[in-house]
Amino acid sequence: MTEIQTKPATPDSLDTLRCRLCGEVTDAGPYHVCEHCFGPLEVGYDLESLRGTLTRELIRSRPTNLWRYRELLPIGTDPVGGHAVGWTPLLPAPRLGEALGIEDLWIKADSSNHPTQSFKDRVVAIALQRAHEFGIKVVGCASTGNLANSVAAQAAAAGLEAWIFIPEDLEPEKVTATGVHGARLVRIRGVYDDVNRLCAEVSDRFGWGIVNVNLRPYYAEGSKTVGFEIVEQLDWSLPANVVAPMAGGSLITKLGKSFREFGEVGLIDDGPKPRLFGTQAAGCAPIINALHEGESRVRPVREPKTIARSLAIGNPADGPFALQAMLDSGGWGEAVSDDEIVEGIRLLASLEGVFTETAGGVVVAGAARLAREGRFASDGPTVLCITGNGLKTPDAARSTFELGEPIEPRLSEVERLAEGM
Ligand SMILES: Cc1ncc(COP(=O)(O)O)c(C=O)c1O
Ligand SMILES: [Zn+2]
Repeated sequence: MTEIQTKPATPDSLDTLRCRLCGEVTDAGPYHVCEHCFGPLEVGYDLESLRGTLTRELIRSRPTNLWRYRELLPIGTDPVGGHAVGWTPLLPAPRLGEALGIEDLWIKADSSNHPTQSFKDRVVAIALQRAHEFGIKVVGCASTGNLANSVAAQAAAAGLEAWIFIPEDLEPEKVTATGVHGARLVRIRGVYDDVNRLCAEVSDRFGWGIVNVNLRPYYAEGSKTVGFEIVEQLDWSLPANVVAPMAGGSLITKLGKSFREFGEVGLIDDGPKPRLFGTQAAGCAPIINALHEGESRVRPVREPKTIARSLAIGNPADGPFALQAMLDSGGWGEAVSDDEIVEGIRLLASLEGVFTETAGGVVVAGAARLAREGRFASDGPTVLCITGNGLKTPDAARSTFELGEPIEPRLSEVERLAEGM
């Protein structure tokens, strides 16, 4: 069993965790559930004390990685890893914007995050830093694929043992990109929710740091850096609309938190916060179903059926918070079919040169629907969060082009092809 240090030597805000439901405060540690009401625990910050000390100049003076926002992240000591994580490109997307009818459209391209080409590199960097601070030597996760890749890679670089639990039907590319790092890869006969339940028992039994279970309060904060970077890359201004994919519902919730915190510490002017739009695949859309039915309860989807396996979480841990984030911001959400996902992948690749995995296809297709419905505010930029890389789900893109028969290496053969154009 790993010995767990419950009170690391850290700033005040890191000594405690607060329950997101009943507000009860507990000592910090690798815990995620409130002992009083079983609600989820969250990290709090003394934002008032950062006013005037955490400045744009200070942030700008730091290396371009996610630690540039360290005062707003739950880390207690100098980061030991993750020095190339984050600061992904924010790309103007005028050709896609024209096709979708969205003015001033941008792509936040976490499809090129380091080291494993998804936004999960951010959450893992924070979780492993915290694991280090707690003295945890074995880490792990329950994953739909991208998290598996990132925990395996970053644990390898940190010299930690990693146990990765995945549903048995993941894409082979995601399995390979996990196993190659030397992690213990455990395939479970069941859906993601079965894997997640098992991991809760594993973390209790072995005391390991399961990044999205008992390290979840820290892990989740990493998603805020997507929002922080968008604001800084837009020259310290807020976008009008942000579209994100939803699986557990954490990313969209934390995007809202990032914009609020930047406002509260005075890094941006007061003003309307971005509208937050969530997207899911129709074959696994528990959060969108609740949104469209006007429910505050999220009913689990027992058997997800979609090519967007990275988003196939039937019982989302942050579902109610994601709902609230969309509604409180004046946003909305949509679910899209598998055919629309493939078309979304094709549009982004053929118009902007960015190859995304299925989750990005969900975002582009969802944005197309939301634009048709006239949901976006028109007084500023719209940012699509492209959270994963297309090379991890190549089969989904295979139908987007035709591959002709090979030709002889003769000019006349090319002339024949050119004539047919
Ligand atoms: C590529 C990709 N995008 C988005 C998400 C959704 O993140 P969240 O669980 O925070 O809603 C995931 C989750 O696995 C993912 O792999
Ligand atoms: Zn509570």
